[in-house]
Amino acid sequence: MTTTYSHDYQQSLAAPEDFWAEQAKLLAWKKFPQQILSQNERGFYRWYADGELNTAHLALDFHVEQGRGEQAALIYDSPVTQQKQSFTYRELRDEVALFAGVLQSKGVEKGDRVIIYMPMIPQTLIAMLACARLGAIHSVVFGGFAAHELAIRIDDAQPKLILTATCGIEVQRIVPYLPIVKAAIAEAEHKPEAAIVYQRPQLPDQLEGSPSFDWDKLRAVATPAPITWVKAGDPLYILYTSGTTGKPKGIVRDHGGHAVALKYSMDMIYGVKPGEVYWAASDVGWVVGHSYIVYGPLLHGCTTVMFEGKPIKTPDPGTFWRVIGEHKVNVFFTAPTAIRAIRKEDPQAEYKKQYPTPSLRALFLAGERCDVSTYEWVKSVLEVPVIDHWWQTESGWPMIANMTGYGFDKTKPGSAGKAVCGFDIRALSGNAAIQGPNQEGAICIKLPLPPSCLPTLWRNDDRFERGYLSRFPGWYLSGDGGYVDEDGYIFITGRIDDVINVAGHRLSTAEMEEVIAAHPAVAECAVIGVADELRGQVPIGLVVLQEGVRITEETIAKELIQSVRETVGPVAYFKKVFVADRLPKTRSGKILRKIMRCIADRAPYSPPSTIENPVVLDEIKALLLAPS
Ligand code: COA
Ligand code: AMP
Repeated sequence: MTTTYSHDYQQSLAAPEDFWAEQAKLLAWKKFPQQILSQNERGFYRWYADGELNTAHLALDFHVEQGRGEQAALIYDSPVTQQKQSFTYRELRDEVALFAGVLQSKGVEKGDRVIIYMPMIPQTLIAMLACARLGAIHSVVFGGFAAHELAIRIDDAQPKLILTATCGIEVQRIVPYLPIVKAAIAEAEHKPEAAIVYQRPQLPDQLEGSPSFDWDKLRAVATPAPITWVKAGDPLYILYTSGTTGKPKGIVRDHGGHAVALKYSMDMIYGVKPGEVYWAASDVGWVVGHSYIVYGPLLHGCTTVMFEGKPIKTPDPGTFWRVIGEHKVNVFFTAPTAIRAIRKEDPQAEYKKQYPTPSLRALFLAGERCDVSTYEWVKSVLEVPVIDHWWQTESGWPMIANMTGYGFDKTKPGSAGKAVCGFDIRALSGNAAIQGPNQEGAICIKLPLPPSCLPTLWRNDDRFERGYLSRFPGWYLSGDGGYVDEDGYIFITGRIDDVINVAGHRLSTAEMEEVIAAHPAVAECAVIGVADELRGQVPIGLVVLQEGVRITEETIAKELIQSVRETVGPVAYFKKVFVADRLPKTRSGKILRKIMRCIADRAPYSPPSTIENPVVLDEIKALLLAPS
């Protein structure tokens, strides 16, 4: 049956239950749901509540049963260790079942949480799928986060086990993980029963202070675990993401809605077919890694690529093109920052000539705003459609895109495309009026959100309601600003809260402020994200020192940079601190962060009428714009 984007889009909004019931039929359910959409006692929407299935079964066993057993499921390519390894669907299924047996032998059952703090190696993907096979809930923590961040997540998720490896590898720097895990367990109030440690040859190491087991030794004596069927609404994972406070938000993802939406997205957004090769150059610590390194490609019967390296320096800016050429990647996904990094090192794309990429059909970009110049450059280098698309950890899949499965629509530079089927996306004014074409507002989505979107926050319904639903009743507040043009193309202009985006990584300035404020010499502080050519944004700190404190600017800056690195993690990329006499505020004491950001970015701004003392803005301007 042929259909069009506009037909399906209208259908998906006019009759969402029918639309998503049809999509659900494409999966092999243990029990097909009778209730397609329902609401719980708090009025939160649920998809497929009474359906039963298992995501790991759909991602692996199902394909083996359907005759896909000998096809490559996973290709691991690691320029930092000079290793490449391929797993067929059968091999991956067997590894996952065996590791599920390991977890079971350590008491992991349906509903238990398991934290995974691991680098980009196949064992990480195997661990995630093994949790899913048992109905246990994984929570992957990105390796660039430090011990305190890991501790916060341990306390919130209360895992039974932690799965980790001895190290990560950052270009040539070995990052020992076990001291971080040890410090996190020591800081957390909740103590996991044990850790399972994967020994990497680059750094043999032992976890001190907590019970721990050797990954391979357990695996050697394990028996494969059978599939545990779960309800569609049971959580598959919790993924923590930055919010506007010091405490990250535990985004919950369910089994059923997630599987339906991801399968649909592989087909209708990315336009890939089962058997094709799909590569998302992200990290499994982020939502892109969850959805499009692990679950999406496997649910769809594709070959996924897991890449342990960077776009540059591992070993050169041709590494992405090599991987695409060598593994015959059909559709590729990365962040604009990665392309900017490659362009900076290889502006004439000399390396591209060494690595032809005839298999490639399209490049998808997301994670941050894509500037037009980067977009044009990469389009001319790859000579395939380059497609910006917008989504969030909260949705788990794209909400604005060019749905290439319906045929490639024209793109408008600067726009992430049109609303994806199922999403009624509008810009709302402060008083909840739908803005007209090209009028900027808060980007919101009419409820109910389609499948895969967060049903709630982990054990925190109140924060879910407060943070997303209460500002505009009947709408989901995305936290981004933007506008919709007269043709339905949506332009995202940036966050309207204090979340920042550094090299495609979502970070909270409030978390960094908490660390800075804890320094005894600091009276008050603000962290703002300022524009950066390579990373999109970088955080900078402005601090006012306590009266009478004698410390040089250089020393305080060094100490604060070090403590953000040790507390939040190197990924925060917090490298610059300014010491100010005072910070601009409203008369009620609210620090004017947005205005300071405009000053730093040399963007226009108008001070609010409630400003306490306009002179402070001139002082900040002199400080931030002084030649360095
Ligand atoms: N474990 C430990 N440390 C990590 C880490 C990890 N998993 N990931 C990053 N870091 C460290 C880096 O080593 C670096 O440390 P440094 O300050 O000592 O150099 C710091 O965190 C910042 O990391 P990063 O932003 O990756 O900087 P980089 O200079 O190494 O690389 C880019 C720059 C642009 C190449 C890189 O940021 C990139 O590829 N970005 C794309 C991100 C992406 O794909 N996001 C996907 C979300 S959709
Ligand atoms: P994360 O939850 O880490 O995926 O980050 C989501 C945030 O990244 C969004 O709220 C946006 O601010 C930003 N983002 C993601 N994709 C895009 C895009 N294509 N264009 C603009 N911003 C984006």
